[in-house]
Amino acid sequence: MSDIRFDGQVVIVTGAGGGLGRSHALEFARRGAKVVVNDLGGTLDGSGGSSAAAEAVVAEIVAAGGEAIADGASVTNDAGVAAMVERTIAKWGRIDVLIANAGILRDKSFAKLDLADFAAVVDVHLMGAVKPIKAMWEIMRTQNYGRIVVTTSSTGLYGNFGQSNYGAAKLSLVGLMNTLKLEGAKNNIRFNAISPVAATRMTDNLMPPEMLAKLGPEHVTPGVIYLASEDAPNGAILTAGAGVFALAQIVETEGAFLGSAARAEDVRDQWTQITDPTGAEAYMAGAGQTQKFLRKSAD
Ligand code: NAI
Repeated sequence: MSDIRFDGQVVIVTGAGGGLGRSHALEFARRGAKVVVNDLGGTLDGSGGSSAAAEAVVAEIVAAGGEAIADGASVTNDAGVAAMVERTIAKWGRIDVLIANAGILRDKSFAKLDLADFAAVVDVHLMGAVKPIKAMWEIMRTQNYGRIVVTTSSTGLYGNFGQSNYGAAKLSLVGLMNTLKLEGAKNNIRFNAISPVAATRMTDNLMPPEMLAKLGPEHVTPGVIYLASEDAPNGAILTAGAGVFALAQIVETEGAFLGSAARAEDVRDQWTQITDPTGAEAYMAGAGQTQKFLRKSAD
């Protein structure tokens, strides 16, 4: 099969001034894309900011013979996001790919967490993806082409102590994907999620150096490139790290029909059958679950 290329395509990578986003942006450029390198340039908790980080990545791309522009907007700022999209269209006329990668951390156990730190994390991860997507949705629909990749996390999928805000924000992106993969399909807009593990400033203090050494961001980027390519799947959650790639899925067991008069005690007593993984399914839409309920109750 031929190589995956992005010649003539325009790609926006948010939070691309360092870490995973930088790695994605460099690889899109190597593969022929014109790249918007967005980054607020703030600290890990989201404070401060300058466009220097984004400009440095642009300089790297240009030095390697690629095409890129820097954008210092915060993904949570409506006017900044609108200006980024307008500048991109004015310069290159289209937007083919969005990699929603910008993110911050405000880790604390839930008992000690301020609601302000909860809201800030949800704002950057969730609304910081929703705002750019909304700003380019009509453009992608009109083009009849679009590839969107959001960045979820094992914390959202499975949990991690001290990251209730981050986990809630990260899995909300999967909820967003599950509907937009359906709404975008008729206009050839595909929507996927990457769940990375990588050595970046986000994980510097979380893992020992010998683990971090195997977890370069460049081992995640091939997954993002595929999810953003013409032949991408739709609605996949790809997990990636250290050269390993896997699919995460939300599945539902076949379950048990306990009758219309089922009581709480019946649920307790049939727990083994309710939770039996044999025949578990990942539905393409919520209606799949309703159809099962009606089928099983008619058996
Ligand atoms: P990072 O901190 O190096 O990258 C995040 C980038 O987002 C930073 O350059 C930061 O300046 C930028 N950013 C933050 N707020 C922004 C805003 N409002 N507007 C624009 N840019 C903003 O960390 P890393 O690890 O590269 O993170 C990239 C994404 O991957 C994040 O969404 C993160 O949550 C996610 N992730 C990372 C994992 C890892 O193991 N490193 C694990 C799971 C998810």
